[in-house]
Amino acid sequence: MNAPETTIPAVPEQSDAAPDWAEMRRESRNKLRRRTIEHIRNKTTDLAEAALLLDKSVYTDPARHADERRVLFQERPILAALSGDLPQPGDTFLFDEVGPPILVVRNKQGKVNAFLNMCTHRAAKLVTECTRKNRMSCKFHGWTFDLDGKLVGMPGKSGFAGIQLAERNLIPVPVVEWHGLIFVRAVPNGAPIDVEAHLGKAFANELAHLELEKAVPMKTTRIDVNSNWKYAMDTYGEGYHFATLHPSTIGALALSNIMSYDNYGPHHRLAMPRAEFLEYCDKPESEWPETGYNGLYYIFPNVVINANSIAGGRQFYGVSRVFPCERVDQATTLITTYKPGQMLHDTEVEPWTQMHDFIHKVVSTEDYSVSEEGQHNLNYAPDDFKPVLGANEIALQNIHKHIATLLAAEKK
Ligand code: FES
Ligand SMILES: [Fe+2]
Repeated sequence: MNAPETTIPAVPEQSDAAPDWAEMRRESRNKLRRRTIEHIRNKTTDLAEAALLLDKSVYTDPARHADERRVLFQERPILAALSGDLPQPGDTFLFDEVGPPILVVRNKQGKVNAFLNMCTHRAAKLVTECTRKNRMSCKFHGWTFDLDGKLVGMPGKSGFAGIQLAERNLIPVPVVEWHGLIFVRAVPNGAPIDVEAHLGKAFANELAHLELEKAVPMKTTRIDVNSNWKYAMDTYGEGYHFATLHPSTIGALALSNIMSYDNYGPHHRLAMPRAEFLEYCDKPESEWPETGYNGLYYIFPNVVINANSIAGGRQFYGVSRVFPCERVDQATTLITTYKPGQMLHDTEVEPWTQMHDFIHKVVSTEDYSVSEEGQHNLNYAPDDFKPVLGANEIALQNIHKHIATLLAAEKK
């Protein structure tokens, strides 16, 4: 899947004051690659202090599940889209995965707004298709709203004498667009989002250098899975299973049970070595070829951005998001593959759609088959059975610990 990347083009339209993101990516790549190859040489991996036991109820308890949906997915910032999903004024994006249907729309000035996707007449779903619009009209009785949510037209106005129509604008939800990431808080009229506080400065800097604001979506698919969302999410956070579960797919492309792990509070970044790194182990760094960036960025609680390489020196960003459904044992995953900004000179489409299809197939047929079987088994496991996360599954430990901490804080 990887051929050496020979050039990473400089970032266009860069003013004197703007950071050199391409150079920052290269530096970050070098540091990460150095660490990861050192792990291969020493046959080591980054480890937590100890193994961690979980209660099986973490995956099976409906009450805990309801708390997770509310506390993690509705009350806290959650990634709704990337800027490239609604690039032009008038573009709309529907985000229904966290419960309340949310409508994200780019207004005439290019600013992103988000609302409950609900007509203020009698609550019909206002927008049902992600198309470019000047105004949004409800299909039920034709109330019409502008791109800032203002009620600007309605048939039969005289029937609503005495009603304060100025109070019938769309109901906003907090939204922020930051370096190509669009976060919402799924609470009507909720508190504003401070993205850098949510991500932390150091992690925000790491994400900024990916230049996600220039990424262009190439393909999106959905995978429904009969497992708790965390059982599905857990498959993204360790390379311990590569050789055993994915012998002819991921396991042929990346080395098992070797990982460089960087913690950023609830978030983290992982790097698992690509198979060709083995060739570099007995060479000095000066002889390592220029390779693409490869790292997995996890944004708490449910996003993985896989910045990685495709054959021919190409790079892709694979964004996977796992969402809990209403039932404790059902989840849905949205996978979108983006062409990064530094690849836009490449007019090909297929390398990205093929990579997308490959990942979709591996996740749906290999990873999630295990998630479904494991979830099913947990229903029958003895009450005192405790799944265990090894010290080598440090990223999963980080996720589970932070979820537990947030839920406990909520109960106080
Ligand atoms: S519910 Fe939308 S116009 Fe009536
Ligand atoms: Fe996997």
